[in-house]
Amino acid sequence: MTQTNKIAGFSKLSKQAKVEWLIENYSDNPEASLELLKSYLHPNEKMQKLHDEFIENTITNYFMPFGIAPNFKLNGKVYCLPMAIEESSVVAAMAKSANFWFDKGGFVANVVSVKKIGHVHFVWRGENKRELQQYFESIKDLFYERTESVTRNMRARGGGILNVELVDRTDLEPNYYQIKGTFDTRDSMGANFINTILEEWAQVLTDNVHESEVLNDKHIEIIMCILSNYTPECLVHTEVSCPVSELNPGENISAEEFCDKFIRAIHVAKIEPYRAVTHNKGIMNGVDALVLATGNDFRAVEACAHAYAARNGSYSSLSDAEVKDGIFRFWIDMPMSLGTVGGITSLHPMVRFSHEILGHPDAQQLMMIIASAGLAQNFSALRSLTTTGIQKGHMKMHLLNMLNQFEATDNEKMQIVEYFKDKVPSFQNTLEIFCKIRGIKPEEVRTASSGN
Ligand code: MEV
Repeated sequence: MTQTNKIAGFSKLSKQAKVEWLIENYSDNPEASLELLKSYLHPNEKMQKLHDEFIENTITNYFMPFGIAPNFKLNGKVYCLPMAIEESSVVAAMAKSANFWFDKGGFVANVVSVKKIGHVHFVWRGENKRELQQYFESIKDLFYERTESVTRNMRARGGGILNVELVDRTDLEPNYYQIKGTFDTRDSMGANFINTILEEWAQVLTDNVHESEVLNDKHIEIIMCILSNYTPECLVHTEVSCPVSELNPGENISAEEFCDKFIRAIHVAKIEPYRAVTHNKGIMNGVDALVLATGNDFRAVEACAHAYAARNGSYSSLSDAEVKDGIFRFWIDMPMSLGTVGGITSLHPMVRFSHEILGHPDAQQLMMIIASAGLAQNFSALRSLTTTGIQKGHMKMHLLNMLNQFEATDNEKMQIVEYFKDKVPSFQNTLEIFCKIRGIKPEEVRTASSGN
């Protein structure tokens, strides 16, 4: 189906009209598509309306599995981690890691700092930079005064504007300057708070320019006002440790040998960006699943984590490990800007539930929980990679997906899961055993799509 015409006013159409137009113009099988979209709607109208209104042009919902990893010990407290993720082996890996570290003291975390940053980016073409600095100093109080009403509640909660400064970035680009704000947004992620303040600051900057006696060039051109999702000073540290002798991975490999391989694996991720990206992706498996379940902005957390991983000029591992005096220590420092109030945290029922089972954490507690989940996930991945290999566990967890692709019955699934109890499944050998049990040829298997 090739659609070449542009549709005008799509957002103004009713939901039904949107669906009809979409299906008529883009679906291969209108009847099945209609049925599919309908089947994903929430049966409760009020609940569906809530979801409709989260974004524009909602036509249905998109389900994701919501899993739980229990026994997650952090700072002496035991959590059940809520995880929204589609990748088969992630929750199982998290649960395994939580179990492994439970008796060894669990995860120990602390928040290093909670500063967030935003900029008014602007151009000033004057010759004498000192004039601009003087102008900034002359209006500095106004940056606070003019945003008084916006910051009042945040200040009452102990946060607000921590600093405002003029930054000369003409080293990057001629005539390019910034008003840089540093903020503490307490339990909110703070994007709206920071952006509102920055836009007011841009007004302060331009409103007063003509009366200024210090500026010869009275033209300030605002480029944009926006928070930075790079928050290296909104940082959390978490770690696990135990005597090397307790590291027993139980896979025909001694604790010492495992420890050595584990640390080498981290070293590879520190020096080789190709490995570092996959290594950090494994960390983000745990992080994103919790960020999503708790209604936070996973794009912001992702972008920030990767920028931080490249802070020294080359993309590198976010986690690190060492052995000192017979003690293995494994840790991560990662920036993470999260909210436990605002956004959809109080609106989305599953997000509310996630916060409930986590014991209603504040933003700093959530930072510690999620960073620890990232470290736990990394531990599981490295443990598999340096012992059995990743496919054994991964394909076992993926087995049901393959069987669902073949549209296996519950009985067939049971037999096949039993068959693979001591073998590693692959697409090919799963297909073979499935065909054998059902008594059909591979070409007769109906698959939702081919896969591996
Ligand atoms: C797969 O989703 C994640 C891993 O590739 C992470 C890693 O290699 O460290 C297993």
